[in-house]
Amino acid sequence: MKILSIETSCDETAIALVEVTIKESSITADQIESELFSQIDIHKEFGGVFPAVAKREHAKHLPILLEKILKFQETRQREDKDWIPAYAGMTTQKMDSYLHKNDIWKEIEALLEREVGLFETFKKLVTAHETPHIDTIAVTTGPGLEPALWVGINFARALSLYWNIPLVGTNHMKGHIFSVLLDQKEINFPALALLISGGHTELVELNSVTDFNIIGKTKDDAVGESYDKVARMLGIEYPGGPEIAKLAQEAREKNIGSGDIRLPRPMIHSKDLDFSFSGLKTAVLYTIRDLSEITPEIRMNIAHEFEQAVTDVILYKTKKALEQKGYKSLIVSGGVIANTYLRSQLKALEVTEGVEVLFPKFTDSTDNAQMIAVAGAIESTKTAPIINPELRAQGNLPY
Ligand code: KG4
Ligand code: ZN
Repeated sequence: MKILSIETSCDETAIALVEVTIKESSITADQIESELFSQIDIHKEFGGVFPAVAKREHAKHLPILLEKILKFQETRQREDKDWIPAYAGMTTQKMDSYLHKNDIWKEIEALLEREVGLFETFKKLVTAHETPHIDTIAVTTGPGLEPALWVGINFARALSLYWNIPLVGTNHMKGHIFSVLLDQKEINFPALALLISGGHTELVELNSVTDFNIIGKTKDDAVGESYDKVARMLGIEYPGGPEIAKLAQEAREKNIGSGDIRLPRPMIHSKDLDFSFSGLKTAVLYTIRDLSEITPEIRMNIAHEFEQAVTDVILYKTKKALEQKGYKSLIVSGGVIANTYLRSQLKALEVTEGVEVLFPKFTDSTDNAQMIAVAGAIESTKTAPIINPELRAQGNLPY
Protein backbone atom coordinates (compact mmCIF):
# COMPACT_ATOMS: atom_id res chain seq x y z
CA MET A 1 0.00 0.00 0.00
CA LYS A 2 1.47 3.35 -1.01
CA ILE A 3 0.43 6.12 1.35
CA LEU A 4 0.73 9.88 1.20
CA SER A 5 0.59 11.19 4.75
CA ILE A 6 0.07 14.62 6.26
CA GLU A 7 0.98 15.80 9.77
CA THR A 8 0.06 19.21 11.21
CA SER A 9 -0.79 18.49 14.87
CA CYS A 10 1.69 20.91 16.42
CA ASP A 11 4.62 22.93 15.11
CA GLU A 12 5.95 20.69 12.33
CA THR A 13 4.37 20.69 8.89
CA ALA A 14 5.16 17.36 7.26
CA ILE A 15 4.24 15.24 4.24
CA ALA A 16 5.62 11.81 3.36
CA LEU A 17 5.28 8.99 0.86
CA VAL A 18 5.66 5.55 2.38
CA GLU A 19 5.11 2.02 1.12
CA VAL A 20 3.60 -0.14 3.85
CA THR A 21 3.19 -3.89 3.50
CA ILE A 22 0.82 -5.56 5.92
CA LYS A 23 0.82 -9.34 6.07
CA GLU A 24 -0.78 -11.61 8.66
CA SER A 25 1.80 -11.17 11.37
CA SER A 26 4.23 -8.66 9.97
CA ILE A 27 4.23 -5.05 8.89
CA THR A 28 7.06 -3.46 6.95
CA ALA A 29 7.36 0.18 6.03
CA ASP A 30 9.71 1.73 3.48
CA GLN A 31 9.93 5.45 3.35
CA ILE A 32 9.99 6.69 -0.24
CA GLU A 33 10.25 10.41 0.38
CA SER A 34 9.53 12.85 3.19
CA GLU A 35 9.42 16.61 3.56
CA LEU A 36 9.23 18.62 6.76
CA PHE A 37 9.13 22.26 7.74
CA SER A 38 9.80 23.01 11.39
CA GLN A 39 8.18 26.16 12.77
CA ILE A 40 10.33 26.16 15.92
CA ASP A 41 12.21 29.36 15.01
CA ILE A 42 8.92 31.15 14.41
CA HIS A 43 7.43 30.08 17.77
CA LYS A 44 10.59 30.89 19.73
CA GLU A 45 9.61 34.52 20.13
CA PHE A 46 6.35 33.46 21.82
CA GLY A 47 8.14 31.11 24.21
CA GLY A 48 5.95 28.20 23.09
CA VAL A 49 3.69 27.07 20.27
CA PHE A 50 1.08 29.67 19.41
CA PRO A 51 -1.92 27.90 17.75
CA ALA A 52 -2.95 30.77 15.43
CA VAL A 53 0.60 31.09 14.14
CA ALA A 54 0.96 27.31 13.75
CA LYS A 55 -2.23 27.18 11.68
CA ARG A 56 -1.09 30.00 9.39
CA GLU A 57 2.33 28.42 8.86
CA HIS A 58 0.81 25.00 8.08
CA ALA A 59 -1.40 26.59 5.41
CA LYS A 60 1.62 28.32 3.93
CA HIS A 61 3.93 25.30 3.89
CA LEU A 62 1.64 22.38 2.99
CA PRO A 63 1.53 23.34 -0.73
CA ILE A 64 5.31 23.93 -0.78
CA LEU A 65 6.04 20.50 0.68
CA LEU A 66 3.46 18.79 -1.50
CA GLU A 67 4.98 20.28 -4.62
CA LYS A 68 8.36 18.78 -3.72
CA ILE A 69 6.76 15.37 -3.13
CA LEU A 70 4.76 15.49 -6.38
CA LYS A 71 7.79 16.50 -8.46
CA PHE A 72 9.80 13.67 -6.97
CA GLN A 73 7.01 11.15 -7.47
CA GLU A 74 6.30 12.26 -11.05
CA THR A 75 9.76 11.32 -12.28
CA ARG A 76 9.56 8.02 -10.41
CA GLN A 77 6.17 6.97 -11.69
CA ARG A 78 6.87 7.60 -15.40
CA GLU A 79 8.57 4.17 -15.41
CA ASP A 80 5.60 2.60 -13.69
CA LYS A 81 2.98 2.45 -16.48
CA ASP A 82 1.01 -0.54 -15.14
CA TRP A 83 0.05 1.03 -11.84
CA ILE A 84 -3.36 0.02 -10.50
CA PRO A 85 -4.51 1.63 -7.24
CA ALA A 86 -5.42 -0.87 -4.53
CA TYR A 87 -9.00 0.40 -4.39
CA ALA A 88 -9.62 0.64 -8.13
CA GLY A 89 -13.16 -0.50 -8.95
CA MET A 90 -14.18 -0.52 -5.31
CA THR A 91 -17.43 1.30 -4.95
CA THR A 92 -18.33 2.77 -1.66
CA GLN A 93 -21.37 4.98 -2.02
CA LYS A 94 -19.31 8.11 -1.60
CA MET A 95 -16.84 7.12 -4.31
CA ASP A 96 -19.63 6.60 -6.84
CA SER A 97 -21.22 9.93 -6.22
CA TYR A 98 -17.94 11.77 -6.64
CA LEU A 99 -16.96 9.87 -9.76
CA HIS A 100 -20.05 11.23 -11.47
CA LYS A 101 -19.65 14.77 -10.34
CA ASN A 102 -18.11 17.19 -12.77
CA ASP A 103 -17.51 20.18 -10.64
CA ILE A 104 -15.79 19.44 -7.39
CA TRP A 105 -14.04 22.82 -7.19
CA LYS A 106 -16.86 24.41 -5.21
CA GLU A 107 -16.55 21.72 -2.60
CA ILE A 108 -12.78 22.05 -2.50
CA GLU A 109 -13.09 25.81 -2.17
CA ALA A 110 -15.46 25.38 0.78
CA LEU A 111 -12.87 23.15 2.46
CA LEU A 112 -9.98 25.56 1.97
CA GLU A 113 -11.59 29.00 2.15
CA ARG A 114 -10.69 29.61 5.82
CA GLU A 115 -7.01 29.96 4.96
CA VAL A 116 -6.27 33.04 2.91
CA GLY A 117 -5.06 32.18 -0.58
CA LEU A 118 -4.91 28.44 0.05
CA PHE A 119 -7.58 27.47 -2.47
CA GLU A 120 -5.87 29.34 -5.32
CA THR A 121 -2.45 27.88 -4.47
CA PHE A 122 -3.98 24.41 -4.17
CA LYS A 123 -5.72 24.60 -7.53
CA LYS A 124 -2.61 25.81 -9.31
CA LEU A 125 -0.51 23.10 -7.73
CA VAL A 126 -2.68 20.02 -8.27
CA THR A 127 -3.65 20.92 -11.85
CA ALA A 128 0.04 21.31 -12.75
CA HIS A 129 0.96 17.79 -11.61
CA GLU A 130 0.01 14.21 -12.38
CA THR A 131 -2.08 12.30 -9.87
CA PRO A 132 0.46 10.42 -7.75
CA HIS A 133 0.46 6.63 -7.76
CA ILE A 134 -0.79 6.16 -4.23
CA ASP A 135 -3.49 3.97 -2.69
CA THR A 136 -4.50 6.03 0.31
CA ILE A 137 -4.00 9.41 1.96
CA ALA A 138 -3.54 9.51 5.74
CA VAL A 139 -3.90 12.58 7.93
CA THR A 140 -3.49 13.22 11.66
CA THR A 141 -6.84 14.04 13.29
CA GLY A 142 -5.53 14.26 16.88
CA PRO A 143 -4.36 14.57 19.56
CA GLY A 144 -2.86 18.02 19.05
CA LEU A 145 -3.78 21.67 18.58
CA GLU A 146 -7.19 21.75 16.92
CA PRO A 147 -6.65 24.84 14.73
CA ALA A 148 -3.43 23.26 13.44
CA LEU A 149 -5.05 19.84 12.90
CA TRP A 150 -7.91 21.36 10.90
CA VAL A 151 -5.58 22.78 8.27
CA GLY A 152 -4.07 19.35 7.58
CA ILE A 153 -7.47 17.64 7.60
CA ASN A 154 -9.07 20.05 5.13
CA PHE A 155 -6.03 19.95 2.86
CA ALA A 156 -6.12 16.13 2.89
CA ARG A 157 -9.88 16.10 2.16
CA ALA A 158 -9.36 18.43 -0.79
CA LEU A 159 -6.66 16.11 -2.17
CA SER A 160 -8.86 13.07 -1.64
CA LEU A 161 -11.65 14.76 -3.58
CA TYR A 162 -9.50 16.03 -6.42
CA TRP A 163 -7.52 12.83 -6.95
CA ASN A 164 -10.42 10.50 -6.08
CA ILE A 165 -8.23 8.62 -3.63
CA PRO A 166 -9.49 7.36 -0.22
CA LEU A 167 -8.52 9.21 2.94
CA VAL A 168 -8.09 7.83 6.43
CA GLY A 169 -7.81 9.72 9.74
CA THR A 170 -4.88 8.81 11.94
CA ASN A 171 -3.94 9.10 15.62
CA HIS A 172 -0.70 11.00 16.20
CA MET A 173 0.28 8.91 19.23
CA LYS A 174 -0.22 5.65 17.33
CA GLY A 175 2.11 7.22 14.77
CA HIS A 176 4.79 7.68 17.44
CA ILE A 177 4.36 4.06 18.52
CA PHE A 178 4.53 2.63 14.99
CA SER A 179 7.48 4.84 14.05
CA VAL A 180 9.73 1.93 15.09
CA LEU A 181 8.44 -0.03 12.07
CA LEU A 182 10.12 2.51 9.78
CA ASP A 183 13.40 1.03 10.88
CA GLN A 184 12.50 -2.53 9.82
CA LYS A 185 11.75 -3.47 13.38
CA GLU A 186 9.14 -6.00 14.29
CA ILE A 187 6.96 -5.52 17.32
CA ASN A 188 6.47 -8.61 19.43
CA PHE A 189 3.27 -8.59 21.44
CA PRO A 190 2.28 -7.92 24.12
CA ALA A 191 4.29 -4.72 23.96
CA LEU A 192 4.59 -1.77 26.29
CA ALA A 193 4.98 1.69 24.77
CA LEU A 194 6.51 4.59 26.68
CA LEU A 195 5.66 7.86 24.96
CA ILE A 196 7.61 10.89 26.09
CA SER A 197 7.16 14.12 24.18
CA GLY A 198 6.42 17.80 24.64
CA GLY A 199 2.70 17.05 24.92
CA HIS A 200 2.52 13.50 26.27
CA THR A 201 3.90 11.17 28.89
CA GLU A 202 2.15 7.82 28.67
CA LEU A 203 2.58 4.14 29.23
CA VAL A 204 0.46 2.19 26.76
CA GLU A 205 -0.21 -1.53 26.70
CA LEU A 206 -0.42 -3.00 23.19
CA ASN A 207 -1.83 -6.47 22.73
CA SER A 208 -1.85 -6.17 18.93
CA VAL A 209 -1.52 -3.35 16.40
CA THR A 210 -5.16 -2.44 17.03
CA ASP A 211 -5.55 -3.12 20.75
CA PHE A 212 -4.31 -0.21 22.92
CA ASN A 213 -4.82 0.52 26.58
CA ILE A 214 -3.33 3.48 28.49
CA ILE A 215 -2.04 2.14 31.80
CA GLY A 216 -0.27 5.27 33.03
CA LYS A 217 -0.05 8.94 32.17
CA THR A 218 0.97 12.31 33.49
CA LYS A 219 -1.49 14.13 35.69
CA ASP A 220 -0.10 17.52 34.70
CA ASP A 221 2.97 18.47 32.63
CA ALA A 222 4.52 16.20 30.03
CA VAL A 223 8.23 15.38 30.36
CA GLY A 224 9.31 17.54 27.41
CA GLU A 225 7.13 20.35 28.68
CA SER A 226 8.83 20.26 32.09
CA TYR A 227 12.27 20.32 30.41
CA ASP A 228 11.16 23.37 28.43
CA LYS A 229 9.74 25.12 31.51
CA VAL A 230 12.86 24.52 33.59
CA ALA A 231 14.95 25.77 30.67
CA ARG A 232 12.92 28.95 30.59
CA MET A 233 13.53 29.52 34.31
CA LEU A 234 17.24 29.33 33.54
CA GLY A 235 16.88 31.84 30.71
CA ILE A 236 17.12 29.32 27.87
CA GLU A 237 14.82 29.89 24.92
CA TYR A 238 12.08 27.50 23.72
CA PRO A 239 12.35 24.54 23.28
CA GLY A 240 15.03 24.33 25.94
CA GLY A 241 14.93 20.53 26.48
CA PRO A 242 18.03 19.82 24.37
CA GLU A 243 20.00 22.61 26.10
CA ILE A 244 19.12 21.29 29.59
CA ALA A 245 20.27 17.85 28.43
CA LYS A 246 23.56 19.38 27.24
CA LEU A 247 24.11 21.13 30.59
CA ALA A 248 23.34 17.92 32.48
CA GLN A 249 25.79 16.00 30.29
CA GLU A 250 28.46 18.61 30.92
CA ALA A 251 27.82 18.33 34.66
CA ARG A 252 28.22 14.54 34.50
CA GLU A 253 31.47 14.88 32.57
CA LYS A 254 32.87 17.50 34.98
CA ASN A 255 31.65 15.57 37.99
CA ILE A 256 29.48 18.42 39.15
CA GLY A 257 27.35 16.42 41.54
CA SER A 258 23.62 16.55 41.70
CA GLY A 259 23.82 16.15 45.50
CA ASP A 260 24.13 19.85 46.35
CA ILE A 261 20.68 20.60 45.05
CA ARG A 262 18.06 18.01 45.82
CA LEU A 263 14.82 17.85 43.84
CA PRO A 264 11.81 15.58 44.49
CA ARG A 265 10.93 12.44 42.47
CA PRO A 266 7.16 13.11 42.26
CA MET A 267 4.82 10.13 42.54
CA ILE A 268 7.67 7.65 42.33
CA HIS A 269 6.14 5.49 45.04
CA SER A 270 2.49 5.95 44.12
CA LYS A 271 0.62 2.66 43.65
CA ASP A 272 -0.39 3.46 40.07
CA LEU A 273 1.66 3.99 36.92
CA ASP A 274 0.86 7.69 36.63
CA PHE A 275 3.36 10.54 36.52
CA SER A 276 3.46 14.15 37.70
CA PHE A 277 6.10 16.67 36.73
CA SER A 278 4.64 20.00 37.75
CA GLY A 279 5.89 19.68 41.36
CA LEU A 280 9.39 19.08 40.05
CA LYS A 281 9.19 22.24 38.00
CA THR A 282 7.96 24.20 41.03
CA ALA A 283 10.79 22.79 43.16
CA VAL A 284 13.26 24.13 40.57
CA LEU A 285 11.51 27.50 40.74
CA TYR A 286 11.87 27.66 44.54
CA THR A 287 15.51 26.57 44.34
CA ILE A 288 16.28 29.38 41.90
CA ARG A 289 14.33 31.92 43.95
CA ASP A 290 16.39 31.15 47.05
CA LEU A 291 19.70 31.69 45.27
CA SER A 292 21.34 35.07 45.20
CA GLU A 293 23.15 34.30 41.95
CA ILE A 294 22.94 31.57 39.29
CA THR A 295 26.50 30.77 38.32
CA PRO A 296 27.25 28.53 35.30
CA GLU A 297 28.10 25.80 37.80
CA ILE A 298 24.74 26.10 39.54
CA ARG A 299 22.95 25.97 36.18
CA MET A 300 24.73 22.69 35.42
CA ASN A 301 23.95 21.45 38.88
CA ILE A 302 20.22 22.17 38.51
CA ALA A 303 20.09 20.64 35.00
CA HIS A 304 21.89 17.54 36.27
CA GLU A 305 19.63 17.00 39.29
CA PHE A 306 16.50 17.76 37.27
CA GLU A 307 17.44 15.26 34.56
CA GLN A 308 18.30 12.67 37.19
CA ALA A 309 14.93 13.17 38.91
CA VAL A 310 13.06 12.78 35.61
CA THR A 311 15.08 9.71 34.67
CA ASP A 312 14.59 8.06 38.07
CA VAL A 313 10.80 8.46 37.88
CA ILE A 314 10.51 7.28 34.27
CA LEU A 315 12.74 4.25 34.85
CA TYR A 316 10.96 3.28 38.06
CA LYS A 317 7.47 3.45 36.56
CA THR A 318 8.50 1.71 33.35
CA LYS A 319 10.07 -1.16 35.30
CA LYS A 320 6.96 -1.39 37.46
CA ALA A 321 4.77 -1.65 34.35
CA LEU A 322 7.07 -4.28 32.83
CA GLU A 323 6.85 -6.35 35.98
CA GLN A 324 3.04 -6.40 35.85
CA LYS A 325 2.84 -8.39 32.63
CA GLY A 326 5.12 -10.50 30.47
CA TYR A 327 5.79 -7.83 27.85
CA LYS A 328 7.98 -8.98 24.99
CA SER A 329 8.97 -5.54 23.79
CA LEU A 330 9.26 -2.01 25.08
CA ILE A 331 8.76 0.71 22.48
CA VAL A 332 10.11 4.11 23.51
CA SER A 333 9.10 7.03 21.36
CA GLY A 334 8.51 10.80 21.26
CA GLY A 335 10.78 13.84 21.01
CA VAL A 336 12.35 13.40 24.46
CA ILE A 337 14.16 10.20 23.42
CA ALA A 338 16.62 12.48 21.66
CA ASN A 339 17.95 12.66 25.23
CA THR A 340 20.96 10.33 25.15
CA TYR A 341 21.16 9.82 28.91
CA LEU A 342 17.53 8.76 29.28
CA ARG A 343 17.85 6.64 26.15
CA SER A 344 20.88 4.75 27.47
CA GLN A 345 19.19 4.14 30.83
CA LEU A 346 16.08 2.77 29.09
CA LYS A 347 18.18 0.64 26.73
CA ALA A 348 19.77 -0.96 29.80
CA LEU A 349 16.36 -2.47 30.66
CA GLU A 350 17.10 -5.05 27.94
CA VAL A 351 19.62 -6.62 30.31
CA THR A 352 17.95 -6.00 33.67
CA GLU A 353 14.34 -6.71 32.65
CA GLY A 354 14.91 -9.14 29.74
CA VAL A 355 12.73 -7.12 27.39
CA GLU A 356 13.59 -6.06 23.87
CA VAL A 357 13.80 -2.23 23.77
CA LEU A 358 12.85 -0.58 20.49
CA PHE A 359 13.57 3.04 19.57
CA PRO A 360 12.70 4.65 16.26
CA LYS A 361 15.54 6.09 14.20
CA PHE A 362 16.64 9.48 15.45
CA THR A 363 14.99 11.28 12.50
CA ASP A 364 11.69 9.46 13.09
CA SER A 365 11.49 10.20 16.81
CA THR A 366 10.29 13.81 16.67
CA ASP A 367 7.04 14.72 14.88
CA ASN A 368 7.05 13.61 11.25
CA ALA A 369 4.68 12.40 8.53
CA GLN A 370 6.26 9.01 7.81
CA MET A 371 5.01 7.67 11.14
CA ILE A 372 1.50 8.88 10.26
CA ALA A 373 1.65 6.82 7.05
CA VAL A 374 2.39 3.63 9.00
CA ALA A 375 -0.39 4.27 11.52
CA GLY A 376 -2.71 5.27 8.64
CA ALA A 377 -2.03 2.04 6.76
CA ILE A 378 -2.91 0.01 9.86
CA GLU A 379 -6.04 2.15 10.40
CA SER A 380 -7.14 1.67 6.79
CA THR A 381 -7.32 -2.09 7.28
CA LYS A 382 -10.16 -1.53 9.77
CA THR A 383 -12.53 0.48 7.58
CA ALA A 384 -13.89 0.59 4.03
CA PRO A 385 -12.07 3.06 1.75
CA ILE A 386 -13.85 6.43 1.67
CA ILE A 387 -13.24 9.45 -0.54
CA ASN A 388 -13.37 12.72 1.41
CA PRO A 389 -14.61 11.31 4.74
CA GLU A 390 -16.00 13.81 7.21
CA LEU A 391 -13.02 13.90 9.55
CA ARG A 392 -12.89 16.16 12.59
CA ALA A 393 -9.94 17.58 14.50
CA GLN A 394 -9.92 16.13 18.02
CA GLY A 395 -7.46 17.77 20.38
CA ASN A 396 -7.81 14.90 22.86
CA LEU A 397 -8.38 12.04 20.44
CA PRO A 398 -8.32 8.77 22.41
CA TYR A 399 -6.57 5.63 21.09
O1 KG4 B 1 7.61 14.66 20.08
P1 KG4 B 1 8.05 16.07 19.96
O2 KG4 B 1 8.95 16.44 18.80
O3 KG4 B 1 6.83 17.04 19.88
C1 KG4 B 1 5.69 16.82 20.61
O4 KG4 B 1 4.78 16.09 20.11
O5 KG4 B 1 5.64 17.37 21.73
O6 KG4 B 1 8.79 16.46 21.33
C2 KG4 B 1 9.37 17.73 21.58
C3 KG4 B 1 9.83 17.80 23.02
C4 KG4 B 1 10.17 19.23 23.46
O7 KG4 B 1 9.56 19.48 24.69
C5 KG4 B 1 11.70 19.20 23.59
O8 KG4 B 1 12.21 20.11 24.52
C6 KG4 B 1 11.94 17.78 24.01
O9 KG4 B 1 11.02 17.02 23.23
N1 KG4 B 1 13.32 17.36 23.74
C7 KG4 B 1 14.19 16.98 24.71
C8 KG4 B 1 15.40 16.71 24.05
N2 KG4 B 1 15.24 16.93 22.73
C9 KG4 B 1 13.95 17.32 22.56
N3 KG4 B 1 14.02 16.84 26.03
C10 KG4 B 1 15.09 16.42 26.73
N4 KG4 B 1 16.28 16.14 26.20
C11 KG4 B 1 16.50 16.27 24.87
N5 KG4 B 1 17.68 15.98 24.35
ZN1 ZN C 1 4.44 14.11 18.69
